Amino acid sequence: MPVPHIYVERTLAIIKPDAVHKAEEIEDIILRSGFAILQKRRVHLTPEQASDLYAEHYGKLFFPSLVAYMSSGPIIALVIARLQAITYWRELIGPTNTIKARQTHPDCLRAIYGTDDQRNALHGSDSFPSAQREIRFFFPDSVVEPVATGQAAKD
Ligand code: PPS
Repeated sequence: MPVPHIYVERTLAIIKPDAVHKAEEIEDIILRSGFAILQKRRVHLTPEQASDLYAEHYGKLFFPSLVAYMSSGPIIALVIARLQAITYWRELIGPTNTIKARQTHPDCLRAIYGTDDQRNALHGSDSFPSAQREIRFFFPDSVVEPVATGQAAKD
């Protein structure tokens, strides 16, 4: 009988400047939530690098303040992995706006560690293509395809 593939997905998590002082605590929650931390890098982005990272939001009203904020201090970029990592990490961090997150998802990480819609403590890739792009942004040599574990089915 064929053994099904189990796909361990990777995503990019960022601990933003306002939450870096809580990094150890957050990494512990990440591990206890069933993720493996595959790669980790502390980096202070230049405004140009932050603009590149958030290029899809170029032209939006909040773009300049987002870039200024993300280049205001060190951040921690993490490649984390588990089954359905992209979806699960987004669920764990919760809604973008911390104020709303506190009302609707009081246990999510942004409700706990964030302040508002800019200083919202954490980032998570929103799709597989975004995860690929963002992982390569911080870790250019990284393998970003899903990894099949278990014995491959002979089909
Ligand atoms: S959008 O327009 O719905 O796609 O934007 P959204 O997904 O809500 O947010 C995208 C990222 O922009 C940040 N953001 C802000 N930064 C500064 N000021 C304001 N007002 C603001 N609103 C949204 C938000 O934190 C998102 O960052 P990431 O890192 O993706 O969570």
